[in-house]
Amino acid sequence: MNILIKTAEQIEGIRKSSQLAGETLLYIEPFIKEGVSTEYLDGMIHQYMVERGAVPATLDYNGFPKSCCISLNEVVCHGIPSVKTILKKGDILNVDVTTILDGFFGDTSRMFTVGEVSQEAEKLIRVTKQCLNLGIQQVFPDNYFGNIGYFINRYATSQGFSVVYEFCGHGVGVEFHEDPQVDHIARKNSGQKMKPGMIFTIEPMINEGKPRVKVDQQDGWTARTVDDKLSAQFEHTLLVTETGCEVLTDVSKEYQVT
Ligand code: MF3
Ligand code: CO
Ligand code: CO
Repeated sequence: MNILIKTAEQIEGIRKSSQLAGETLLYIEPFIKEGVSTEYLDGMIHQYMVERGAVPATLDYNGFPKSCCISLNEVVCHGIPSVKTILKKGDILNVDVTTILDGFFGDTSRMFTVGEVSQEAEKLIRVTKQCLNLGIQQVFPDNYFGNIGYFINRYATSQGFSVVYEFCGHGVGVEFHEDPQVDHIARKNSGQKMKPGMIFTIEPMINEGKPRVKVDQQDGWTARTVDDKLSAQFEHTLLVTETGCEVLTDVSKEYQVT
């Protein structure tokens, strides 16, 4: 595996693109309401990015037809925005946006809810966010990539949930998906070591039931839980610094730069 160490110029470009991706999720929040279609949200996201000089990375990526992924309820990831998918009360959804700005990629996603959701759904979302936080805490020079997945899996399973292992985080920035593959289940102190200048995502998908997914045979993208139980996901793009990390897509300043 060849993990790029980004130059100062690349880091600045990836930081800008990542900030725009984060801002896109802030922008879309008030539009997420009962009765709107995921196609409508996709159009708003497309326009927001293009008006700011960016290109949505998912559009035409390996044939993906839309400008973001919107994954409802039992959809684990890669949900295709559609006029037929109308938000209703009690839905939970992940919106995943990836920007290309001046050639650099930024990738982030988070959960949203429509009206009141079940207590189990709320817990799943809370635990999944905490899984991302625990992963982020493991990002510092000379730590092993495996420790990200070790702590995510330990916590998710302690809460009665399971971790999707068929999709992973990834290096990002110069391309959409670079080395390394960032596993959300791993052994302690396994894999390569993190070095300053590496940039990658952590994006745990956590399931209420079984961890396996099935990909829709019709559209070739939509990944659902095998048991049709709920799934949740959060994603950030991270830079390894000399002493810790910077969450490049964190526009709400939830995380300190270390
Ligand atoms: N944004 C997703 C990720 O986190 C990838 C989506 S690829 C697509 O890696 F083609 F499905 F859009
Ligand atoms: Co990603
Ligand atoms: Co993403």
